[in-house]
Amino acid sequence: MPSRDTERIAVVGGGPGGLYAAALLKRLRPGREITVWERNAPEDTFGFGVVLSDETLGGIEHADPVVYAALSDAFVRWDTIDVVHRGTTQTSGGHGFAALERRTLLRILHERCASLGVRLRFRTEAPPTAELAAGHDLVVAADGVHSATREAHARHFRPTVTHHRNRYIWLAADFAFDSFRFEIAETRHGVMQLHAYPFARPSSGNPGASTVIVEMRDEVWRSAGLDTCGTAESAERCAEVFAGALGGRPLRSNKSSWLTFATVTNQHWSHGRTVLLGDAAHTAHFSIGSGTKLAVEDALALAACLEEQPGLSAALAAYEAERRPVVLSTQRAAAASLRWFEELPQYAHQPPRRFAFNLLTRSRRVTHDNLRLRDPGFTGAVEEEFGCPPGTPPMFTPLRLRGLELRNRIVVSPMDMYSADADGVPGDFHLVHLGARALGGAGLVMTEMVCVSPEGRITPGCTGLWTDEQADAWTRITRFVHDTAPGTAIGVQLGHSGRKGSTRRMWEGIDEPLEDGNWPVVAASPLPYAHGVSQIPQALDRDGMDAVRDRFTEAARRAARCGFDLLELHCAHGYLLSGFLSPLTNRRTDAYGGSVENRLRFPLEVFDAVRAAWPRERPMTVRISATDWSHGGTSDEDALAVARAFAAHGADAIDVSTGQVVPEERPEYGRSYQTPYADRIRNVLGVPVIAVGAISSWDDVNSLLLAGRADLCALARSHLHDPHWTLHAAAAQGYAGPGAPWPLPYRAGSRPPPTGRTDAPKPRLTLD
Ligand SMILES: Cc1cc2nc3c(=O)[nH]c(=O)nc-3n(C[C@H](O)[C@H](O)[C@H](O)COP(=O)(O)OP(=O)(O)OC[C@H]3O[C@@H](n4cnc5c(N)ncnc54)[C@H](O)[C@@H]3O)c2cc1C
Ligand SMILES: Cc1cc2nc3c(=O)[nH]c(=O)nc-3n(C[C@H](O)[C@H](O)[C@H](O)COP(=O)(O)O)c2cc1C
Repeated sequence: MPSRDTERIAVVGGGPGGLYAAALLKRLRPGREITVWERNAPEDTFGFGVVLSDETLGGIEHADPVVYAALSDAFVRWDTIDVVHRGTTQTSGGHGFAALERRTLLRILHERCASLGVRLRFRTEAPPTAELAAGHDLVVAADGVHSATREAHARHFRPTVTHHRNRYIWLAADFAFDSFRFEIAETRHGVMQLHAYPFARPSSGNPGASTVIVEMRDEVWRSAGLDTCGTAESAERCAEVFAGALGGRPLRSNKSSWLTFATVTNQHWSHGRTVLLGDAAHTAHFSIGSGTKLAVEDALALAACLEEQPGLSAALAAYEAERRPVVLSTQRAAAASLRWFEELPQYAHQPPRRFAFNLLTRSRRVTHDNLRLRDPGFTGAVEEEFGCPPGTPPMFTPLRLRGLELRNRIVVSPMDMYSADADGVPGDFHLVHLGARALGGAGLVMTEMVCVSPEGRITPGCTGLWTDEQADAWTRITRFVHDTAPGTAIGVQLGHSGRKGSTRRMWEGIDEPLEDGNWPVVAASPLPYAHGVSQIPQALDRDGMDAVRDRFTEAARRAARCGFDLLELHCAHGYLLSGFLSPLTNRRTDAYGGSVENRLRFPLEVFDAVRAAWPRERPMTVRISATDWSHGGTSDEDALAVARAFAAHGADAIDVSTGQVVPEERPEYGRSYQTPYADRIRNVLGVPVIAVGAISSWDDVNSLLLAGRADLCALARSHLHDPHWTLHAAAAQGYAGPGAPWPLPYRAGSRPPPTGRTDAPKPRLTLD
């Protein structure tokens, strides 16, 4: 890169991001003229300790050994996390943290900048952005979470700043905890939580120091009167609440105040010659590692891109392209962690080891398998508390639902194959498809949505259970499963398409009306699925509701005769019963619309009728969409009310899906993205749940189960990819027990085929 492009550089903000960027840029090209503007004095700083991971330190070591050496001297290192909950302490080892005082970090960076010839202008407000841009080749806006530069160019950067609801305060204790400590206090106002870690080690005459963050929900903070306390009084009150953790020692503040965390994102990170860096560009909740780490890593990437790219705009584009996915992934993990801490009171009842495991795996970055490697003793104890038989991974621990014993926790999620004949009869395809999955080891194999009437089909390729011919065809399939894959259960999902009926097969245009041969559709309200595209459904009247309910009952009786082991009522994804539940699709003004109790009335009538027709000892589940991912749709409270009502009427588990109710939905896709909804229902209501949605690995399944976020895990697309998903998961974990027996004819394949090997002699001797 021609150095002339970036000879004069202005850095707004002397935090870790700005200072480290300045030092690197100057070190790489000593001829550059670099000025850092910092409104504070060098010795001023807020906050106390910062944590840096080994990964970040590796980057610093490589880029600037001088800074690395100074940091290394100052670090406190530790590798255990203590989780204190209801009087017990669970310790998990092998984590590897390094922390130092923020003031020390800034001092090291000040000294490095000064020695390299960076001009540091302390106690000086930076000139306006336009002025800086006019006089410099590059403006690095490292001016923190409240970045004025970002706001000045908001039209270009397009920032979003989201404030969250927990209150927290950064404090310090004048002694060094010997590990990371997380503790909850269940006060009469609600749950308060403490996050603490050492940042200065004890030495002769110096007791060391620790960062202490106290956090709680807004309503707890108000109820405890902390909203009216000043800083000193807040520190005193927090020290009283956590006197046990602190050994009665006080907490001190440093420009501390009660904050709500703000997540910052920007659609663009640069504009002309101005670039955002660190907190100005993005924030990630403090609970998954400090913003300092991200800011320092941004600085490394920016300096490298300016070296590597042929011009300024290419360098800024490369910097953003490199950092954005890393930051997004961190922000996703941080969002999961933040939400976990917001929802923490729902986990307070968990047994201590599960609680600790749940805390450690909250962001989904740390999993059962990671923890097992880090500290097998800790995970062994969690597994024992869960009830895993010796040598049995959590996913192969059996589960009983009424009279049905499932031999493992994997469910082949319902998947419509759109491959029935014109009469809705399942054929050889269904036998082979479901039979293969049953041979693949899952504990429960679900059929696709089986429709209760011809007009209740989604497409002409959907199967049904409204004729005896269909029932005979299903019986052939259940027999095959029971005879050939003994121990595998097969469940039927019954549903009615409602306003999403009379559409094309998935691969011909999902949710689009048929080209010809459409049949009239019904729904809770006369609202089409896609305006101007879908049919306008007829709103069901009482007679219509009776007729639909009776269709469900007849189908349930047939399903019982077919030999299905479990029946699931499909109340999700915008089909008929789901359409009654969602406020977006149910606009009725009679007793079946309005409040969630009213919206539940018809689905519950159907549930009760089906439950009565379904053999008492066989379990029933209900699939719901716990959110519509759309403004004004099903709320968290609605989802809880719906799950509570079905459970009270006898549902044995709730299968917690989301969305597909309205076309304008905006789902937040990601790994296990729907599981927080299952988790909430399980932990708030104590109702068993099936979690589903991008559960991508057996490690995730084990983690969800052990953390108490799910009872069963349903996987759909993974089973299209690999019908033997469960058997392969067993082989990968070295498990060969009763939770996943290989079918006898397949036993010769129960180990992965050998891969290539080399016959060359092993290098043993070195001859110099
Ligand atoms: C109260 C508080 C306490 C914190 N404590 C910790 C902690 O203990 N550990 C931890 O890891 N993280 C802590 N954080 C988070 C952490 O500080 C940030 O994530 C990290 O410092 C980001 O680095 P940065 O360089 O992007 O921004 P910052 O560190 O925020 O630095 C931005 C700097 O820009 C300066 N500035 C802004 N505008 C101007 C201007 N117009 N002119 C001149 N100067 C300007 C500010 O004074 C500031 O020094 C804390 C945050 C807050 C708000
Ligand atoms: C081809 C296909 C068909 C589906 N059909 C149904 C269905 O009939 N009933 C249902 O409740 N969900 C259906 N789903 C949704 C899945 O059961 C599951 O909830 C979703 O795919 C998310 O899980 P996954 O990420 O493991 O694929 C279907 C999904 C796919 C991919």
